Amino acid sequence: MKKKIKLMLTACLVSGAAMMHGQTVMTTNGGAPVGDNQNSKTVGEYGSVLLEDIHLIEKLAAFDRERIPERVVHARGAGAFGYFETTADMSKYTRATLFSKKGKKTDLAVRFSTVIHGKGSPETARDPRGFAVKFYTEEGNYDIVGNNLPVFFIRDAIKFPDMVHSLKPSPETNKQDPNRFFDFFSHIPEATHMLTRVYSDYGIPQGYQYMNGSSVHGFKWVNAKGEVTYVKYTWVSKQGEKNLTAAQAQEQQGKDWQHATVSLRKDIANKQYPQWDLYVQMISPDKMHSFDFWPLDATKDWPEKLIPKVKIGTMTLNRNPVNYFEEVESIAFSPGSLVPGVEPSEDKLLQGRLFSYFDTQRHRVGPNFQQIRVNQPKKQPVNYNSDSWNSSRNSAFDNPDVNYQPSSKSKVTDKATYKLSETKLKNVTITQKKITKTNDFAQAGDFYRSLSKQDQDNLVSNLVGDLGQVTDKNIQKKMISYFYRADSDFGKRIAKALKFSMKDFR
Ligand code: HEM
Repeated sequence: MKKKIKLMLTACLVSGAAMMHGQTVMTTNGGAPVGDNQNSKTVGEYGSVLLEDIHLIEKLAAFDRERIPERVVHARGAGAFGYFETTADMSKYTRATLFSKKGKKTDLAVRFSTVIHGKGSPETARDPRGFAVKFYTEEGNYDIVGNNLPVFFIRDAIKFPDMVHSLKPSPETNKQDPNRFFDFFSHIPEATHMLTRVYSDYGIPQGYQYMNGSSVHGFKWVNAKGEVTYVKYTWVSKQGEKNLTAAQAQEQQGKDWQHATVSLRKDIANKQYPQWDLYVQMISPDKMHSFDFWPLDATKDWPEKLIPKVKIGTMTLNRNPVNYFEEVESIAFSPGSLVPGVEPSEDKLLQGRLFSYFDTQRHRVGPNFQQIRVNQPKKQPVNYNSDSWNSSRNSAFDNPDVNYQPSSKSKVTDKATYKLSETKLKNVTITQKKITKTNDFAQAGDFYRSLSKQDQDNLVSNLVGDLGQVTDKNIQKKMISYFYRADSDFGKRIAKALKFSMKDFR
């Protein structure tokens, strides 16, 4: 008995929590024990309530501030944790230690999401799915913030806010409306490829385990000699790709519209750990102009028959979050979280994202969002960025009197062996114009023709379901003309279903 009490006391001292009869005593945020969490302190047993009930005030104040702004896009999501095991030595192409040694294991966090609707929206929506991975490497956090589909709607970040506005509920009616987003897309022929994919059954994956992932953008891999290779990443699900038809999605929605979160958690809890293989495609800089599309145009896939995929590792998810807010809502991914050996490409969409994510996270999670546990790099940051809300920087790396650089009293150097790559430019004009090699329709047609007859039928019927709600015939015709240019059969089928005849297009 004595031994048991001694053990309990030791446990309390270690955890800092008081224990009574094997239970932990509740405290205020300041650590003082709470004697009653059921009854407010009152004037007599019938009230009024006293302002001096510090525990009550603290509890209500904490509750009043529970919500932070939800993500402006990708608000609904599910997270999980696990590791990446490298299966190929890619040091010839990148000095990223993550990809340099076979058998190397790196901890990681993942967040899967839908894009357009709010935090409590159904997981049965037709939408691209977010596929964001944070690797906690010894050289800092590296994020691949991708989607399940390998391309995107637009190729320039300047269009993104307008596109999202058109897809979100109307500012007037608060309802998502195909009249609005097809009005927008009828001006954006480059969206044809992505729309063809989103309206196929790939637009509603059966669950997060059953979808592939893509970086969408090309990035630059840089090796120890400073040589650059352009790369694009693909995650291939070992569970296989499985989607829901529109009818199956409707049925699922009636039963449980949080099915994707539930199924991911359940598989991990049952130790059926989901896995994905990571593949990379590589293009050397001198080959970038050798295709009939521009590889850094995010509306384009890198066809495997032209640019082979090389497997570089496997991801396993083996832990569910214990606290959703702390580990999933507060996690902050960014295409700008890069490590030595990976740099952004010139992709105009990616370049806008490099600003947008860190910027939104300073607003959404707070200026010190990187100090929250789930966002902390493995190695403690060493710099003199200072203060602001919730700062918990550890300055022990230096003389506490020094918060500037250079300094004769500082122990910190910025002379890392790694330098960012250099690109020589000749005859360059600073400009503001669309790329020349737009090739907006060919890959949409290739994708349409790669589908089975049944999948083509589903794509046409899914599209007609939404495009049929558009009341402006000119918008419908414009959209049909894009799908026709992708593949004449595809366009004709939509036209027929919407009761247009060919002479309507003359
Ligand atoms: C210029 C184009 C884009 C802009 C400005 C943009 C902006 C944003 C913003 C502001 C967020 C919320 C981040 C947060 O609150 O933490 C977000 C989330 C996200 N975006 Fe984008 N986005 C763009 C394009 C893309 C593309 C092309 C992809 C896929 C390759 C993508 C994938 C994601 C994912 C996966 C998330 C959710 C990350 C998470 O789970 O926390 N976005 N985006």
